Amino acid sequence: MADLFFGGIDVGSLSTEAVIINSEEQVLAEVVLITGVNGSEAAQKALNQALELAELAQSQIAALTSTGYGRASVPFATGKTTEISCHGVGAHHLFPSTGTVIDVGGQDSKVIQIDDRGHMLDFSMNDKCAAGTGRFLEVMADRLELELDELSNPAYITGPSTPISSTCTVFAESEVISLLAKDTPREQIVNGLQRSIVNRIWSMVVSIGIHGEVTITGGVAKNQGLIKVLEEKLGQKLNVPKNPQTVGALGAALIAKRHHSDSTST
Ligand SMILES: Nc1ncnc2c1ncn2[C@@H]1O[C@H](COP(=O)(O)OP(=O)(O)OP(=O)(O)O)[C@@H](O)[C@H]1O
Ligand SMILES: [Mg+2]
Repeated sequence: MADLFFGGIDVGSLSTEAVIINSEEQVLAEVVLITGVNGSEAAQKALNQALELAELAQSQIAALTSTGYGRASVPFATGKTTEISCHGVGAHHLFPSTGTVIDVGGQDSKVIQIDDRGHMLDFSMNDKCAAGTGRFLEVMADRLELELDELSNPAYITGPSTPISSTCTVFAESEVISLLAKDTPREQIVNGLQRSIVNRIWSMVVSIGIHGEVTITGGVAKNQGLIKVLEEKLGQKLNVPKNPQTVGALGAALIAKRHHSDSTST
């Protein structure tokens, strides 16, 4: 019998991801693109690139689930699922002992408790305020004339930190401007900003509690400074996926596969 293929597309506020898996749940291709102004164009482009990598045609995809805030703008999706479900299923697939998922994306952050099959039991979410999301770090990196990659520089992880007292992104940006005017070293400011965002994430962690291993997903998991500060606060190591931005799309592809086998087995 010919192998079956499944797709997942995650249209996020900053990035759009496509993942293709086979019926053995092996990842054949994964792509990350900037979403830009047109989510449906980004979705099609990400899928096309993933199909090219996997050497497949779109007609060979048996089912495809879309997720992310732009999940409604994926016309070729055969199903839609929330990001919370997808990050849970994706994190469980990569790290089966995961009990808690922390997803920090560009626009929102969430702490999700999952069961031993990756299904959501409880969650806490911040989508009201940029503080505590990746956007906060984007604004600050821009103000400090740093690339996002530079936030992982060890100098910004180990040195002393300057506390950032404002909880609002706009006020915190003004605070950074005054600190720069006072010649405060950039390393200290970045360190302070990492601690500030971790404190925001922490309040969600406290409301859900820590269950089992903790896996971090979303683009902010590429920020090694933040990982270190969060691990210190948690008192345990985090599972960090190789491609943290594609975990939601991976979960979506796995969900597409499950829905497809449920519909064909009845
Ligand atoms: N190389 C990098 N180093 C450090 N941080 C990064 C890097 N790349 C992205 N980020 C962070 O990841 C964030 C974007 O994460 P992600 O791509 O998961 O967002 P998204 O899924 O589009 O957003 P959302 O899920 O909120 O709609 C950025 O705001 C930034 O803070
Ligand atoms: Mg996302």
